[in-house]
Amino acid sequence: MDREKLNRGRTAVIVGAQWGDEGKGKIVDVLTQTFHVVARYAGGHNAGHTVTINGKRFILQLVPGGILRPGCMSVIGNGVVLDPMAFLKEVAALGEAGIKVEGNLFVSNRAQVILPYHRMMELGSENAPGRVKIGTTSRGIGPSYEDKMGRRGLRVADLLDRQLLCRHIENACREKNMIGHALFNSEPLDADKMFKEYAAAAEQIAPFVRDTAVLLNRALEEGKSIVFEGAQGTMLDIDHGTYPFVTSSSSTSGGAATGTGVPPTKIDTVIGITKAYCTRVGGGPFPTELVDVEGEELRKRGNEYGAVTGRPRRTGWLDLPQLRYAGMVNGISWLVVTKLDVLDHLSEIPVCVGYKIDGKATEEMPPQACDYERVECQYRTMRGWATPTNKVRKFEELPAAAREYLAFIEKETGARVGMISTGPDRAETILVPEFVRELGLD
Ligand code: GDP
Ligand code: IMO
Ligand code: MG
Repeated sequence: MDREKLNRGRTAVIVGAQWGDEGKGKIVDVLTQTFHVVARYAGGHNAGHTVTINGKRFILQLVPGGILRPGCMSVIGNGVVLDPMAFLKEVAALGEAGIKVEGNLFVSNRAQVILPYHRMMELGSENAPGRVKIGTTSRGIGPSYEDKMGRRGLRVADLLDRQLLCRHIENACREKNMIGHALFNSEPLDADKMFKEYAAAAEQIAPFVRDTAVLLNRALEEGKSIVFEGAQGTMLDIDHGTYPFVTSSSSTSGGAATGTGVPPTKIDTVIGITKAYCTRVGGGPFPTELVDVEGEELRKRGNEYGAVTGRPRRTGWLDLPQLRYAGMVNGISWLVVTKLDVLDHLSEIPVCVGYKIDGKATEEMPPQACDYERVECQYRTMRGWATPTNKVRKFEELPAAAREYLAFIEKETGARVGMISTGPDRAETILVPEFVRELGLD
Protein backbone atom coordinates (compact mmCIF):
# COMPACT_ATOMS: atom_id res chain seq x y z
CA MET A 1 0.00 0.00 0.00
CA ASP A 2 1.45 3.38 -0.80
CA ARG A 3 1.67 6.34 1.53
CA GLU A 4 -0.98 8.38 -0.29
CA LYS A 5 -3.57 5.65 0.22
CA LEU A 6 -2.72 5.56 3.91
CA ASN A 7 -3.13 9.31 4.06
CA ARG A 8 -0.23 9.81 6.41
CA GLY A 9 2.71 12.20 6.20
CA ARG A 10 5.78 11.36 4.13
CA THR A 11 9.04 10.25 5.73
CA ALA A 12 12.69 10.23 4.70
CA VAL A 13 15.82 9.09 6.47
CA ILE A 14 18.94 11.22 6.08
CA VAL A 15 21.93 8.96 6.54
CA GLY A 16 25.66 9.61 6.30
CA ALA A 17 26.88 7.37 3.48
CA GLN A 18 30.58 7.59 4.44
CA TRP A 19 32.43 8.22 7.74
CA GLY A 20 30.33 11.13 9.02
CA ASP A 21 30.54 14.88 8.35
CA GLU A 22 29.09 14.46 4.86
CA GLY A 23 26.99 17.61 5.29
CA LYS A 24 23.89 15.99 6.80
CA GLY A 25 23.12 19.13 8.82
CA LYS A 26 22.94 21.31 5.73
CA ILE A 27 20.76 18.83 3.82
CA VAL A 28 18.32 18.35 6.70
CA ASP A 29 18.00 22.12 6.79
CA VAL A 30 17.19 22.26 3.07
CA LEU A 31 14.48 19.59 3.50
CA THR A 32 12.82 21.53 6.34
CA GLN A 33 11.61 24.01 3.75
CA THR A 34 8.63 21.64 3.52
CA PHE A 35 9.07 18.86 6.11
CA HIS A 36 7.22 19.42 9.40
CA VAL A 37 9.32 17.42 11.85
CA VAL A 38 12.99 16.46 12.23
CA ALA A 39 13.71 13.48 14.50
CA ARG A 40 17.26 12.59 15.51
CA TYR A 41 17.61 8.83 16.00
CA ALA A 42 21.12 7.97 17.20
CA GLY A 43 24.37 9.24 18.67
CA GLY A 44 24.79 12.16 20.99
CA HIS A 45 26.88 15.30 21.20
CA ASN A 46 29.68 13.52 19.37
CA ALA A 47 27.87 14.83 16.29
CA GLY A 48 28.52 18.29 14.88
CA HIS A 49 26.04 19.34 12.21
CA THR A 50 26.79 22.64 10.52
CA VAL A 51 24.03 24.74 9.03
CA THR A 52 24.77 28.05 7.32
CA ILE A 53 21.88 30.40 6.62
CA ASN A 54 22.66 33.66 4.85
CA GLY A 55 26.26 33.48 6.00
CA LYS A 56 25.35 32.79 9.66
CA ARG A 57 26.79 29.51 10.90
CA PHE A 58 25.17 27.23 13.49
CA ILE A 59 26.77 24.04 14.80
CA LEU A 60 24.18 21.67 16.22
CA GLN A 61 25.19 18.67 18.29
CA LEU A 62 22.12 17.20 19.96
CA VAL A 63 19.36 19.45 18.72
CA PRO A 64 17.95 18.42 15.31
CA GLY A 65 18.29 20.77 12.35
CA GLY A 66 14.56 21.61 12.33
CA ILE A 67 15.07 24.03 15.20
CA LEU A 68 16.44 26.63 12.77
CA ARG A 69 13.25 26.66 10.71
CA PRO A 70 10.37 28.49 12.45
CA GLY A 71 7.36 26.19 12.87
CA CYS A 72 9.32 22.98 12.37
CA MET A 73 9.21 20.50 15.24
CA SER A 74 12.45 18.88 16.47
CA VAL A 75 12.57 15.59 18.32
CA ILE A 76 15.45 13.88 20.11
CA GLY A 77 14.53 10.21 19.85
CA ASN A 78 14.98 7.29 22.23
CA GLY A 79 18.04 6.07 20.30
CA VAL A 80 20.04 9.12 21.34
CA VAL A 81 22.35 9.38 24.35
CA LEU A 82 21.67 12.71 25.99
CA ASP A 83 24.20 14.63 28.04
CA PRO A 84 21.94 16.91 30.11
CA MET A 85 24.61 19.60 30.53
CA ALA A 86 25.48 19.62 26.81
CA PHE A 87 21.78 19.74 25.97
CA LEU A 88 21.09 22.72 28.24
CA LYS A 89 24.16 24.54 26.95
CA GLU A 90 23.05 24.06 23.35
CA VAL A 91 19.49 25.15 24.13
CA ALA A 92 20.81 28.28 25.88
CA ALA A 93 23.10 29.13 22.94
CA LEU A 94 20.19 28.76 20.50
CA GLY A 95 18.05 31.02 22.70
CA GLU A 96 20.83 33.63 22.72
CA ALA A 97 20.96 33.45 18.93
CA GLY A 98 17.24 34.36 18.88
CA ILE A 99 15.97 30.88 18.02
CA LYS A 100 12.65 29.88 19.58
CA VAL A 101 13.28 26.53 21.25
CA GLU A 102 10.50 26.01 23.81
CA GLY A 103 7.46 24.40 22.24
CA ASN A 104 9.47 23.32 19.17
CA LEU A 105 11.86 20.81 20.75
CA PHE A 106 11.00 17.52 22.46
CA VAL A 107 13.16 14.88 24.12
CA SER A 108 12.27 11.21 24.41
CA ASN A 109 11.57 9.98 27.91
CA ARG A 110 13.40 6.81 26.87
CA ALA A 111 16.67 8.39 25.67
CA GLN A 112 19.71 7.33 27.69
CA VAL A 113 21.50 9.85 29.89
CA ILE A 114 25.26 10.44 29.74
CA LEU A 115 26.76 11.00 33.19
CA PRO A 116 30.28 12.16 34.18
CA TYR A 117 31.46 8.62 34.91
CA HIS A 118 30.88 7.72 31.26
CA ARG A 119 33.47 10.30 30.27
CA MET A 120 35.76 9.07 33.06
CA MET A 121 35.58 5.49 31.78
CA GLU A 122 36.12 6.55 28.17
CA LEU A 123 39.15 8.66 29.01
CA GLY A 124 40.63 5.78 30.98
CA SER A 125 40.05 3.16 28.32
CA GLU A 126 41.22 5.33 25.42
CA ASN A 127 44.55 5.86 27.16
CA ALA A 128 45.00 2.44 28.76
CA PRO A 129 47.95 0.32 27.60
CA GLY A 130 46.86 -2.70 25.60
CA ARG A 131 43.52 -1.20 24.51
CA VAL A 132 42.81 -0.16 20.93
CA LYS A 133 42.68 3.62 20.76
CA ILE A 134 39.61 4.54 18.70
CA GLY A 135 40.22 8.30 18.66
CA THR A 136 36.76 9.05 20.05
CA THR A 137 35.25 12.47 20.63
CA SER A 138 35.61 11.89 24.46
CA ARG A 139 31.95 12.66 25.10
CA GLY A 140 31.15 9.46 27.00
CA ILE A 141 29.15 8.05 24.09
CA GLY A 142 30.52 4.47 24.11
CA PRO A 143 30.28 3.85 27.88
CA SER A 144 26.76 5.28 27.92
CA TYR A 145 25.60 2.86 25.20
CA GLU A 146 27.41 0.07 27.10
CA ASP A 147 25.25 0.82 30.14
CA LYS A 148 22.14 0.93 27.94
CA MET A 149 22.82 -2.53 26.50
CA GLY A 150 23.95 -3.79 29.91
CA ARG A 151 20.52 -2.72 31.20
CA ARG A 152 22.00 -0.52 33.89
CA GLY A 153 21.59 2.85 32.17
CA LEU A 154 19.63 5.85 33.36
CA ARG A 155 16.91 7.08 31.00
CA VAL A 156 15.47 10.58 30.76
CA ALA A 157 12.30 9.46 32.58
CA ASP A 158 14.52 8.23 35.44
CA LEU A 159 16.47 11.49 35.46
CA LEU A 160 13.21 13.26 36.30
CA ASP A 161 12.52 10.88 39.19
CA ARG A 162 14.44 12.48 42.06
CA GLN A 163 14.59 9.44 44.33
CA LEU A 164 15.55 7.06 41.58
CA LEU A 165 18.18 9.51 40.33
CA CYS A 166 19.73 9.76 43.78
CA ARG A 167 19.88 5.99 44.19
CA HIS A 168 21.16 5.43 40.66
CA ILE A 169 23.97 7.96 40.95
CA GLU A 170 25.01 6.63 44.36
CA ASN A 171 25.19 3.02 43.15
CA ALA A 172 26.69 3.79 39.77
CA CYS A 173 29.37 6.05 41.23
CA ARG A 174 30.36 3.40 43.75
CA GLU A 175 30.74 0.83 40.96
CA LYS A 176 32.36 3.09 38.38
CA ASN A 177 34.76 4.60 40.92
CA MET A 178 35.94 1.12 41.90
CA ILE A 179 36.33 -0.04 38.31
CA GLY A 180 37.91 3.23 37.20
CA HIS A 181 40.41 3.12 40.03
CA ALA A 182 41.27 -0.54 39.53
CA LEU A 183 41.64 -0.37 35.75
CA PHE A 184 42.75 3.13 34.96
CA ASN A 185 43.69 4.71 38.29
CA SER A 186 40.97 7.33 37.71
CA GLU A 187 40.17 9.98 40.30
CA PRO A 188 36.88 9.08 42.07
CA LEU A 189 33.76 11.13 41.35
CA ASP A 190 31.64 12.69 44.11
CA ALA A 191 28.12 11.21 43.99
CA ASP A 192 26.49 13.90 46.20
CA LYS A 193 27.77 16.72 44.07
CA MET A 194 26.72 14.89 40.92
CA PHE A 195 23.21 14.29 42.24
CA LYS A 196 22.73 17.96 43.10
CA GLU A 197 23.90 19.11 39.66
CA TYR A 198 21.87 16.58 37.70
CA ALA A 199 18.72 17.01 39.80
CA ALA A 200 18.88 20.73 39.02
CA ALA A 201 19.45 20.02 35.31
CA ALA A 202 16.51 17.59 35.34
CA GLU A 203 14.16 20.38 36.38
CA GLN A 204 15.21 22.43 33.38
CA ILE A 205 14.89 19.47 31.01
CA ALA A 206 11.47 18.31 32.28
CA PRO A 207 9.39 20.66 30.08
CA PHE A 208 10.96 19.16 26.92
CA VAL A 209 10.26 15.52 27.81
CA ARG A 210 7.58 13.51 26.01
CA ASP A 211 6.80 10.01 24.82
CA THR A 212 8.23 10.93 21.44
CA ALA A 213 7.26 7.63 19.77
CA VAL A 214 3.63 8.57 20.40
CA LEU A 215 4.30 12.16 19.32
CA LEU A 216 5.89 11.08 16.03
CA ASN A 217 3.37 8.39 15.11
CA ARG A 218 0.55 10.83 15.82
CA ALA A 219 2.17 13.52 13.75
CA LEU A 220 2.33 11.07 10.84
CA GLU A 221 -1.32 10.17 11.21
CA GLU A 222 -2.14 13.87 11.08
CA GLY A 223 -0.39 14.06 7.72
CA LYS A 224 2.83 15.69 8.96
CA SER A 225 6.06 14.76 7.24
CA ILE A 226 9.17 13.63 9.12
CA VAL A 227 12.89 13.70 8.33
CA PHE A 228 14.84 11.19 10.39
CA GLU A 229 18.18 12.84 11.02
CA GLY A 230 21.10 10.46 11.19
CA ALA A 231 24.31 11.27 12.97
CA GLN A 232 27.75 9.85 12.14
CA GLY A 233 27.89 7.68 9.01
CA THR A 234 27.56 4.18 7.62
CA MET A 235 31.20 3.26 8.16
CA LEU A 236 30.91 4.35 11.82
CA ASP A 237 27.88 2.10 12.44
CA ILE A 238 28.39 -0.31 15.33
CA ASP A 239 27.57 -3.35 13.13
CA HIS A 240 28.27 -2.32 9.55
CA GLY A 241 31.20 0.05 10.02
CA THR A 242 34.94 -0.50 10.27
CA TYR A 243 34.68 -2.15 13.70
CA PRO A 244 36.14 -1.46 16.25
CA PHE A 245 36.86 1.99 14.76
CA VAL A 246 33.20 2.96 14.91
CA THR A 247 30.80 4.75 17.17
CA SER A 248 28.55 2.81 19.55
CA SER A 249 25.16 3.22 17.87
CA SER A 250 23.22 2.14 14.77
CA SER A 251 23.88 5.11 12.56
CA THR A 252 22.59 3.33 9.44
CA SER A 253 18.99 3.75 8.32
CA GLY A 254 17.66 0.82 10.39
CA GLY A 255 18.47 2.91 13.45
CA ALA A 256 15.78 5.38 12.40
CA ALA A 257 13.08 2.86 13.30
CA THR A 258 14.54 1.54 16.56
CA GLY A 259 15.80 4.99 17.53
CA THR A 260 12.43 6.74 17.25
CA GLY A 261 9.67 4.15 17.59
CA VAL A 262 8.38 4.82 14.07
CA PRO A 263 8.16 1.39 12.43
CA PRO A 264 10.12 0.43 9.26
CA THR A 265 6.81 0.05 7.40
CA LYS A 266 6.35 3.82 7.73
CA ILE A 267 9.69 4.76 6.24
CA ASP A 268 9.25 5.89 2.63
CA THR A 269 12.74 6.68 1.45
CA VAL A 270 16.38 6.74 2.44
CA ILE A 271 18.62 9.57 1.32
CA GLY A 272 22.35 8.96 1.56
CA ILE A 273 24.62 11.96 1.92
CA THR A 274 28.08 11.69 0.39
CA LYS A 275 30.83 14.17 -0.22
CA ALA A 276 32.21 14.33 -3.75
CA TYR A 277 35.36 12.92 -2.11
CA CYS A 278 35.92 11.27 1.29
CA THR A 279 36.92 12.24 4.82
CA ARG A 280 37.30 10.52 8.13
CA VAL A 281 38.13 11.84 11.60
CA GLY A 282 39.68 9.60 14.25
CA GLY A 283 41.49 6.29 13.80
CA GLY A 284 40.67 3.32 11.58
CA PRO A 285 40.64 2.09 7.97
CA PHE A 286 40.33 4.56 5.12
CA PRO A 287 41.21 2.87 1.80
CA THR A 288 41.38 5.96 -0.44
CA GLU A 289 43.18 8.17 2.08
CA LEU A 290 45.65 10.70 0.67
CA VAL A 291 48.56 11.46 2.93
CA ASP A 292 50.29 13.80 0.48
CA VAL A 293 49.90 17.39 -0.76
CA GLU A 294 46.72 16.47 -2.63
CA GLY A 295 45.14 15.38 0.65
CA GLU A 296 46.28 18.59 2.28
CA GLU A 297 44.78 20.59 -0.59
CA LEU A 298 41.40 18.86 -0.11
CA ARG A 299 41.58 19.56 3.63
CA LYS A 300 42.31 23.23 2.98
CA ARG A 301 39.73 23.73 0.25
CA GLY A 302 37.04 21.76 2.11
CA ASN A 303 37.92 23.30 5.48
CA GLU A 304 38.10 19.76 6.79
CA TYR A 305 38.42 20.24 10.53
CA GLY A 306 36.04 18.56 12.99
CA ALA A 307 32.97 20.67 13.83
CA VAL A 308 33.11 19.41 17.44
CA THR A 309 36.73 18.64 18.25
CA GLY A 310 38.51 20.83 15.68
CA ARG A 311 40.68 17.83 14.73
CA PRO A 312 41.96 17.85 11.13
CA ARG A 313 39.93 15.38 9.09
CA ARG A 314 41.75 12.78 7.02
CA THR A 315 40.94 13.19 3.31
CA GLY A 316 40.83 10.96 0.24
CA TRP A 317 39.18 10.32 -3.11
CA LEU A 318 35.61 9.11 -3.53
CA ASP A 319 35.32 5.40 -2.75
CA LEU A 320 32.61 3.78 -4.89
CA PRO A 321 32.85 0.23 -3.44
CA GLN A 322 32.28 1.83 -0.02
CA LEU A 323 29.38 3.87 -1.39
CA ARG A 324 27.80 0.79 -3.00
CA TYR A 325 28.05 -0.96 0.36
CA ALA A 326 26.39 2.04 2.04
CA GLY A 327 23.66 1.83 -0.60
CA MET A 328 23.11 -1.81 0.22
CA VAL A 329 22.99 -1.67 4.03
CA ASN A 330 20.91 1.52 4.13
CA GLY A 331 18.66 0.94 1.12
CA ILE A 332 19.62 4.31 -0.35
CA SER A 333 17.37 5.37 -3.21
CA TRP A 334 18.58 8.97 -3.45
CA LEU A 335 22.07 10.35 -3.03
CA VAL A 336 22.92 13.90 -2.18
CA VAL A 337 26.43 14.85 -3.29
CA THR A 338 27.94 17.61 -1.17
CA LYS A 339 31.09 19.71 -1.46
CA LEU A 340 31.29 19.40 -5.22
CA ASP A 341 32.88 22.88 -5.20
CA VAL A 342 35.89 21.53 -3.29
CA LEU A 343 36.93 19.70 -6.49
CA ASP A 344 36.48 22.81 -8.68
CA HIS A 345 40.24 23.35 -9.07
CA LEU A 346 41.01 19.92 -10.51
CA SER A 347 41.45 19.03 -14.17
CA GLU A 348 41.50 15.31 -13.33
CA ILE A 349 39.75 13.49 -10.48
CA PRO A 350 40.70 9.96 -9.46
CA VAL A 351 37.83 7.83 -8.17
CA CYS A 352 38.13 4.38 -6.58
CA VAL A 353 35.97 2.02 -8.63
CA GLY A 354 36.92 -1.32 -7.09
CA TYR A 355 38.84 -3.11 -4.35
CA LYS A 356 41.29 -5.93 -4.80
CA ILE A 357 42.35 -8.06 -1.87
CA ASP A 358 45.38 -10.30 -2.48
CA GLY A 359 45.02 -9.55 -6.18
CA LYS A 360 41.35 -10.64 -6.33
CA ALA A 361 38.51 -8.22 -7.04
CA THR A 362 35.90 -8.09 -4.28
CA GLU A 363 32.65 -6.23 -3.61
CA GLU A 364 32.69 -7.12 0.08
CA MET A 365 33.92 -4.89 2.87
CA PRO A 366 36.48 -6.68 5.01
CA PRO A 367 35.06 -7.75 8.39
CA GLN A 368 38.30 -7.02 10.23
CA ALA A 369 39.94 -3.63 10.40
CA CYS A 370 43.36 -5.20 9.80
CA ASP A 371 42.17 -6.67 6.46
CA TYR A 372 41.83 -3.16 5.03
CA GLU A 373 45.64 -2.98 4.93
CA ARG A 374 45.47 -5.55 2.12
CA VAL A 375 42.91 -3.58 0.10
CA GLU A 376 44.30 -2.24 -3.18
CA CYS A 377 42.11 0.50 -4.58
CA GLN A 378 41.50 0.42 -8.32
CA TYR A 379 41.24 3.97 -9.64
CA ARG A 380 39.68 5.48 -12.68
CA THR A 381 40.50 9.07 -13.59
CA MET A 382 37.54 11.27 -14.32
CA ARG A 383 37.62 14.54 -16.19
CA GLY A 384 37.70 17.57 -13.88
CA TRP A 385 35.73 20.74 -14.67
CA ALA A 386 38.30 23.26 -13.39
CA THR A 387 35.71 26.00 -13.02
CA PRO A 388 33.74 27.39 -10.03
CA THR A 389 30.36 25.75 -9.33
CA ASN A 390 29.19 27.56 -6.19
CA LYS A 391 26.98 30.01 -8.10
CA VAL A 392 25.25 27.30 -10.13
CA ARG A 393 21.61 26.72 -9.13
CA LYS A 394 20.37 24.44 -11.91
CA PHE A 395 21.60 20.96 -12.76
CA GLU A 396 21.79 21.72 -16.51
CA GLU A 397 24.04 24.68 -15.78
CA LEU A 398 26.72 22.57 -14.14
CA PRO A 399 29.84 22.09 -16.29
CA ALA A 400 29.58 19.00 -18.51
CA ALA A 401 32.44 17.24 -16.68
CA ALA A 402 30.66 17.76 -13.32
CA ARG A 403 27.48 16.24 -14.76
CA GLU A 404 29.55 13.32 -16.04
CA TYR A 405 31.05 12.87 -12.57
CA LEU A 406 27.58 12.74 -11.01
CA ALA A 407 26.22 10.43 -13.72
CA PHE A 408 29.15 8.09 -13.08
CA ILE A 409 28.30 7.99 -9.36
CA GLU A 410 24.69 7.13 -10.28
CA LYS A 411 25.76 4.40 -12.67
CA GLU A 412 28.18 2.85 -10.19
CA THR A 413 25.87 2.96 -7.16
CA GLY A 414 22.46 2.44 -8.72
CA ALA A 415 21.09 5.37 -6.71
CA ARG A 416 19.87 8.63 -8.23
CA VAL A 417 21.50 11.94 -7.37
CA GLY A 418 18.68 14.18 -6.13
CA MET A 419 20.57 17.13 -4.80
CA ILE A 420 24.01 18.66 -5.20
CA SER A 421 25.62 21.01 -2.72
CA THR A 422 28.21 23.48 -3.98
CA GLY A 423 28.84 25.52 -0.83
CA PRO A 424 27.99 25.54 2.89
CA ASP A 425 25.09 27.98 2.63
CA ARG A 426 21.45 26.91 2.43
CA ALA A 427 21.26 28.75 -0.90
CA GLU A 428 24.25 26.94 -2.44
CA THR A 429 22.17 23.96 -3.45
CA ILE A 430 21.02 22.40 -6.71
CA LEU A 431 17.78 20.43 -6.57
CA VAL A 432 16.92 17.88 -9.23
CA PRO A 433 13.24 18.31 -10.27
CA GLU A 434 12.36 14.60 -9.89
CA PHE A 435 13.70 14.64 -6.33
CA VAL A 436 11.72 17.80 -5.56
CA ARG A 437 8.56 16.11 -6.82
CA GLU A 438 9.10 12.82 -5.00
CA LEU A 439 10.00 14.47 -1.71
CA GLY A 440 7.24 17.05 -2.02
CA LEU A 441 9.69 19.92 -1.76
CA ASP A 442 7.71 22.17 -4.10
P1 GDP B 1 27.51 16.73 9.15
O1 GDP B 1 28.07 16.26 10.44
O2 GDP B 1 27.25 15.61 8.20
O3 GDP B 1 26.32 17.62 9.33
O4 GDP B 1 28.64 17.63 8.47
P2 GDP B 1 29.56 18.72 9.21
O5 GDP B 1 28.76 19.94 9.47
O6 GDP B 1 30.30 18.11 10.35
O7 GDP B 1 30.66 18.96 8.11
C1 GDP B 1 30.36 19.44 6.84
C2 GDP B 1 31.13 20.74 6.61
O8 GDP B 1 31.09 21.07 5.26
C3 GDP B 1 30.55 21.92 7.35
O9 GDP B 1 31.58 22.82 7.67
C4 GDP B 1 29.61 22.54 6.31
O10 GDP B 1 29.39 23.93 6.50
C5 GDP B 1 30.40 22.30 5.06
N1 GDP B 1 29.61 22.11 3.84
C6 GDP B 1 28.44 21.44 3.66
N2 GDP B 1 28.12 21.38 2.35
C7 GDP B 1 29.11 22.01 1.70
C8 GDP B 1 29.39 22.25 0.31
O11 GDP B 1 28.64 21.84 -0.57
N3 GDP B 1 30.53 22.90 0.00
C9 GDP B 1 31.41 23.34 0.96
N4 GDP B 1 32.50 23.98 0.56
N5 GDP B 1 31.18 23.14 2.26
C10 GDP B 1 30.07 22.48 2.63
P1 IMO C 1 28.56 13.70 12.57
O1 IMO C 1 27.15 13.43 13.01
C1 IMO C 1 32.63 12.19 12.13
C2 IMO C 1 33.98 9.29 15.13
C3 IMO C 1 35.07 9.70 16.11
C4 IMO C 1 35.75 8.37 16.35
C5 IMO C 1 34.56 7.40 16.34
C6 IMO C 1 34.05 7.04 17.72
O2 IMO C 1 28.97 15.11 12.76
O3 IMO C 1 28.81 13.16 11.21
P2 IMO C 1 32.62 8.36 19.54
O4 IMO C 1 32.91 9.64 20.28
O5 IMO C 1 31.38 8.41 18.73
O6 IMO C 1 32.68 7.15 20.41
O7 IMO C 1 33.86 8.21 18.50
O8 IMO C 1 33.55 8.03 15.61
N1 IMO C 1 32.82 10.19 15.10
C7 IMO C 1 32.54 11.03 14.10
N2 IMO C 1 33.22 11.32 12.97
N3 IMO C 1 31.43 12.75 12.34
C8 IMO C 1 30.71 12.46 13.45
O9 IMO C 1 29.45 12.89 13.63
C9 IMO C 1 31.27 11.58 14.40
N4 IMO C 1 30.86 11.09 15.59
C10 IMO C 1 31.79 10.23 15.99
O10 IMO C 1 35.95 10.64 15.54
O11 IMO C 1 36.57 8.04 15.27
MG1 MG D 1 29.75 16.57 11.62
